[in-house]
Amino acid sequence: MAKHSTVFSCTGCGAQFPKWAGQCSDCGKWNTLEEEIIQPAGGGKGRPYPGLVVSEGIKNLDSVVVDEMVRRNTGISEFDRVLGGGLVSGSVILIGGDPGIGKSTLLLQALANLAKTTKVLYVTGEESTEQVALRAKRLGVSDAKVRLLAATDVDRILQSAAREEPDVLVADSVQTLSSDALQSAPGSVAQVRESSAHLVRYAKQTGTTVILVGHVTKEGHLAGPRVLEHMVDAVLYFEGDRSSSFRLVRAIKNRFGAVNELGVFAMVEEGLREVTNPSAMFVRRENASAAGSVILATQEGTRPLLVEVQALVDASPLANPRRLCVGLEQNRMAMLLAVLHRHGGFSLYDQDVFVNVVGGVRVVEPAADLALLAAVVSSLRDERVSRGTVIFGEVGLSGEIRPVQRGQERLREASKLGFTRAIIPRGNQPKERIEGLEVVALPRVDQAFEALF
Ligand code: TYD
Ligand code: MG
Repeated sequence: MAKHSTVFSCTGCGAQFPKWAGQCSDCGKWNTLEEEIIQPAGGGKGRPYPGLVVSEGIKNLDSVVVDEMVRRNTGISEFDRVLGGGLVSGSVILIGGDPGIGKSTLLLQALANLAKTTKVLYVTGEESTEQVALRAKRLGVSDAKVRLLAATDVDRILQSAAREEPDVLVADSVQTLSSDALQSAPGSVAQVRESSAHLVRYAKQTGTTVILVGHVTKEGHLAGPRVLEHMVDAVLYFEGDRSSSFRLVRAIKNRFGAVNELGVFAMVEEGLREVTNPSAMFVRRENASAAGSVILATQEGTRPLLVEVQALVDASPLANPRRLCVGLEQNRMAMLLAVLHRHGGFSLYDQDVFVNVVGGVRVVEPAADLALLAAVVSSLRDERVSRGTVIFGEVGLSGEIRPVQRGQERLREASKLGFTRAIIPRGNQPKERIEGLEVVALPRVDQAFEALF
């Protein structure tokens, strides 16, 4: 009897198992294992890791010749910033995001710019060439020298690419790609992994920059996220509210640049427009003086960013009052509310607490702690924070305000935008005076609450 060649892959993390189970023992998710038939077209075993070019022998580190890294600017400076200064040749970039958020739009705009100086190939597996041409028309780049290929079969794509020899290749999207070597359906973890591996190998061998587009599943993961994330050189995610026109592109992994770098765009009629002064956009002055609203100076990658944090505290009809947090970390909020009670003397056990960061921005750094507490206190007391005040600082469990990175840059950004007062950790007290900014640098949270109003 022929031996079974099926395997069960987790759609969440890509782990493989010989038997089906209700829960993936790797990532702990339920009902994510899918059966797949594996039929490698020979030579499947012992293949080297796709991203790696195996060398002949052991070398001295200092004897390795490194070519000068070539970076190509995409002509979209916000995109270049997230990439760490442009596209590196031979690198593979994965761009993820919800369907319809603007991945294809951004890439078509970038390719249209790149086509002025280099050879680019746009492989579309989701749309026909007519649809891409229609979008190009809408973006006003119909006459760009972008080469198009509507294909989903990886082998065909690679053959065409070998003839075309592009400097930059975009595959939109990895979920549509498939390889004949496997029988499982396009979009399955095995196909996504295998097809991407082919393209990664192609990039490393030819020095072509390959950009892979990946849709995110309902749970907020790229299909087969871990397998793709470790294979590629950079992973960028699109974020943003569907309801607003803001689109944020964040680098979560980058072998050639800083992570957590943020590019800010606005989706308009003519495609994605760069936002060069995002702080001004995220801070709505007229609201900023309402009770429960404070301005946080956060740091995204190499750039300071001012955002508005809003809180609503209201008497709860529930036995277990609600604590809801959008754009900040839920668990962190629970911890901070405990600090507020213990060290600030504010009791919230019978209050619902809702916190939101305006504009769909997600703030991951603890420097948001003090701003969150300030917004909660302001809403609870129904009192406005003094006009023109900006806040940042990490809060510790014993009620101390801890210093954060790059305090100076945050303060300078605030001053540039016309803020007149800053409540910050004592450890971040600037050595020199900042023009037009009164700095209130404090060691403890209870003092900060007094300074708010
Ligand atoms: P798209 O790039 O197709 O998204 P993705 O590739 O991430 O799935 O973006 C499509 C959305 O963007 C669509 O809802 C329409 C909108 N859009 C504009 O608002 N203006 C434009 O110029 C373009 C091309 C798209
Ligand atoms: Mg698309």
